[in-house]
Amino acid sequence: MNKPDNQIIVIFGGRGDLAMRKIVPALYALYIQKLLPERFAVIGTGRSLFSDNAYRDEIGNAVMSHSSETDKSRISDFAEAFNYLAVDPVKIDSYLCLRSTLERLREKISSGGNTLYYLSVPPALYEVIPRHLAAHHYNDQSEGWKRLIIEKPFGMDYDSALKLNTALLESWDESQIYRIDHYLGKETVQNILVTRFSNGIFEPLWNRNYIHHVEITSSESLGIEMRGEYYEKTGALRDMVQNHLLHLVGFIAMEPPSSIDSNSIRNETVKVFQSLRPIKPEEVISNAIRGQYTGAHVKGELLKGYREEEHVNPHSITETFAALKFHIDNWRWGGVPFYVRTGKRLPTRVTEAVIHFKQTPHYLFSQTRISEACNQLIIRIQPDEGILLKFGMKIPGAGFKVKNVNMDFHYSDLAEERIPEAYERLLYDSMKGDSTLYTRSDAVLAAWSFLDPVIKAWHDNHDIPVYGYPAGTWGPERADELIEEPELTWRYPCKNLADDGIYCEL
Ligand code: BG6
Repeated sequence: MNKPDNQIIVIFGGRGDLAMRKIVPALYALYIQKLLPERFAVIGTGRSLFSDNAYRDEIGNAVMSHSSETDKSRISDFAEAFNYLAVDPVKIDSYLCLRSTLERLREKISSGGNTLYYLSVPPALYEVIPRHLAAHHYNDQSEGWKRLIIEKPFGMDYDSALKLNTALLESWDESQIYRIDHYLGKETVQNILVTRFSNGIFEPLWNRNYIHHVEITSSESLGIEMRGEYYEKTGALRDMVQNHLLHLVGFIAMEPPSSIDSNSIRNETVKVFQSLRPIKPEEVISNAIRGQYTGAHVKGELLKGYREEEHVNPHSITETFAALKFHIDNWRWGGVPFYVRTGKRLPTRVTEAVIHFKQTPHYLFSQTRISEACNQLIIRIQPDEGILLKFGMKIPGAGFKVKNVNMDFHYSDLAEERIPEAYERLLYDSMKGDSTLYTRSDAVLAAWSFLDPVIKAWHDNHDIPVYGYPAGTWGPERADELIEEPELTWRYPCKNLADDGIYCEL
């Protein structure tokens, strides 16, 4: 792969949690793989005064603690590229000091003015930092390109996302804006496109004629950790569904793009989002289930309920679990329900998409349950990344007894290939100017516009219950009823571990 152009990377929130846990380790992995520019410099900013040397020590510690790269021998060379600058992001004059540092480093590494600004800051600053940067002409592309990476959540609903977008576009061009959704950086998510569009066998079956329903689960065993303040304002729907899970839906449901370039793929994603059938206010109670974890003993440990977590209102109705049933109104998917669910403090950390194919039109054999008569393609996003196809085989012996068996592929079988972290791929792409795996504004807005009725109903209508579920369980039982057909349930990853052959920890 080619190296990106020489450039300066400015990380706002350069000492924050995201920078230290994800961004810096990703940069280090790219460095080891020789995928960073020939010459590069990083400026980390923060509010407090700090020296370059102390910052470099922190960078080294971050790599030691959070990098999955085994070669740690080059940490000090890597950290040398880092510089620290105290900038108060809300004060316009505070940005003045950036100029001399940018100029000095530009000279030093011959970056020709190429600059990537990464906003690793709270959402309240997504509007103000780009505005102040522009006021000082730091977005000026007359010498070298200027790009802006913005973390999620991009807005809190349709109106706020539109407002933020409009504000950004006053001084930045859409082509300069990289809205990150780290799920798109996951190898297994990108592999959905490869599975679908590089194998002739799937495409003819990938539609309403053969697919019964699609199910996506993203569960986490962790709670909200130290993020009570953020989570209280966000909840599972905004935190996971509006972005990560809808993008999975987009990749699973999109039409084949005409090529693998940024616009073609993003055009197809947007078409899916725009075809999502809005959930009517009166349907929210039955098609969008929300839950909140309560305290329970899990593996001998007493886990707190959500309302007991730090910075959480003891009467909070913020959801830590969300499950939705919806439809995509187009020719390919007419009549095929999509089910998605996500939650904190569920039994395990697993993300997978399951394509449930229709059963044979007539049972010849002894399948006793519908689920045994249906093929399933399970796309395991994490952990034990891979793909599993379940299909019926004859049990040896008299008669025709059928058992579902697995044809499986595990990424771990790809010899010594290390699966890159999502942030590695995304940072590399933005440094190269490839926005394929970043979210375009029309997609963000379409996703919000689909979820707005649910957000509004959950906010306004207190008759819609927030079901409690004990930590360590699969969420409220009411979510099981979303899948209306008798004998069909959510797939419980790990429950049938012996049958499955794909790992997750219970
Ligand atoms: C983040 C959410 O975007 O994704 C977190 O804010 C969540 O709440 C995380 O834990 C999950 O990401 P992953 O890669 O661990 O599945």
